[in-house]
Amino acid sequence: MLPSLSLPSSSTGLATRSATTTGANMTGGVAIEVEGLNFSFGEGDLTKQILFDVNLQIAPGEVVLLTGPSGCGKTTLLTLVGGLRTVTSGRVNVLGTELNGATQGELIALRRKIGFVFQLHNLLEFLTAAQNVETSLQLHDELSPAERKERALALLDEVGLSHRAQALPAALSGGQRQRVSIARALAAQPQLILADEPTAALDSHSGRQVVELLQKLARERGSSVLMVTHDNRILDIADRIVPMEDGRIVVGGV
Ligand SMILES: Nc1ncnc2c1ncn2[C@@H]1O[C@H](COP(=O)(O)OP(=O)(O)OP(=O)(O)O)[C@@H](O)[C@H]1O
Ligand SMILES: [Mg+2]
Repeated sequence: MLPSLSLPSSSTGLATRSATTTGANMTGGVAIEVEGLNFSFGEGDLTKQILFDVNLQIAPGEVVLLTGPSGCGKTTLLTLVGGLRTVTSGRVNVLGTELNGATQGELIALRRKIGFVFQLHNLLEFLTAAQNVETSLQLHDELSPAERKERALALLDEVGLSHRAQALPAALSGGQRQRVSIARALAAQPQLILADEPTAALDSHSGRQVVELLQKLARERGSSVLMVTHDNRILDIADRIVPMEDGRIVVGGV
């Protein structure tokens, strides 16, 4: 158990956003709206279509799990929604930004509103847990260095790791590293969290803890979550499960 999980979010000193405020700058209160999205890798004869007419809507504050066999296009869809790949067909609106035709500047601004949690947690090995969390606040000029430090420590406390704040990633367990990456993803109070198999490297107990934590923190802040998972044991944390197969969303699925 993580004793600090019972702390109210106000104990972090962070403002809690309501779902209503979160939706204020979104089209019709929708966090993610994907319509008729096709996507291919490669060019000319080597073109391989990966996504076919994908349609998906996610409301502010909704927790959605994306499931499906290996290679069906889940990560590709997640990276398109996150503005990490260029959308060239169909319509993708994320937090009010139209991604088809978006400028680099618009994409950078969008990425700052998103918390990313990846399977291999991408922590910087030469920075402590606290410094890793702080990196996501670097672009937030409105915070002083002291405030960034304070916020990073508050987030580590929320994920039950205040006692490991000064540890380097190499000295942390897999579950602890993944909790640091969740703290980092949430530090900037993102309106949307995109997670790609955050439990893949963890045993079932730590995996469940990590996902419950992500869900709880997202709920407290009214953030939407789109999470790719193969892990059947965590399906119950979702508001909705979106199954994918061969680059298509299975209509009439769960
Ligand atoms: N950069 C790339 N260039 C070319 N093909 C790619 C690239 N990335 C992925 N693919 C291909 O696109 C398809 C979908 O890959 P994707 O990573 O989206 O699958 P996935 O559903 O996330 O699978 P997994 O569950 O194994 O992570 C696969 O056939 C993969 O080989
Ligand atoms: Mg993948």
